[in-house]
Amino acid sequence: MNFKIWFDEVLSKLDKRAISFKKIIKYLDDLPDPIIILETGCLRKIDNFSGDGQSTLIFDKYTQSRGNGSRVYSVDINEQNVNLCKSLVSDKVYLKKEDSVKFISDFHNQVGYNNKLSLLYLDSFDVNWDYPLESSAHHLKELTASIPYINKNTLVVVDDAPINLLGYRDEKNNFKFIKDASVGGKGYLIHEYARSVNADLFFSHYQVGYKNIVKS
Ligand SMILES: C[S@@+](CC[C@H](N)C(=O)[O-])C[C@H]1O[C@@H](n2cnc3c(N)ncnc32)[C@H](O)[C@@H]1O
Repeated sequence: MNFKIWFDEVLSKLDKRAISFKKIIKYLDDLPDPIIILETGCLRKIDNFSGDGQSTLIFDKYTQSRGNGSRVYSVDINEQNVNLCKSLVSDKVYLKKEDSVKFISDFHNQVGYNNKLSLLYLDSFDVNWDYPLESSAHHLKELTASIPYINKNTLVVVDDAPINLLGYRDEKNNFKFIKDASVGGKGYLIHEYARSVNADLFFSHYQVGYKNIVKS
């Protein structure tokens, strides 16, 4: 199977995530083998490209196209979701049913401490858009546990993390964005952390991506 042809077809179904998935794959294309991806929150519904993204399937096909030891690790707390995902991806994907923070804290058992991630893709704990703090705190815990496995070139992506449309009405009642707008949803607290450590914002769409979260 030719990944590029398959991915071009998928892009048209990815809706609000198409632009960032394109950037993710382009970024990975420029990294050396092996590509190592750690994902939290696996595919849970067949063909749900515009709803959830089908990330596990995309990463599976991509790493297979790279070969040379490239691989995907994915963790999900829900057994049914893990089983469904297993039925849709290749046996090259290492999938585990566990809490993501626990899984990441034991991740040295999978890769040791010397192999660093090419991509850390955080998409677990569903976000309550009226109260994103809980989900956003869980994703910050995932990033914290992942620090030993990332380096400055690791692309860190958080799904469901659109820019907060913070703004105000001017004297003519026109809506104005506040210049230093923030990121919301699952990425709310990670974005605050990324800003504090002067990480590079790689993209900000419906998903947010950073490089240089750690400096070496
Ligand atoms: C939005 S879905 C993931 C979608 C998937 N990344 C995709 O693109 O199709 C979120 C998943 O996170 C899982 N989840 C929720 N809390 C979790 C936790 N604490 N640890 C691991 N997985 C969790 C849910 O069971 C659910 O399957």
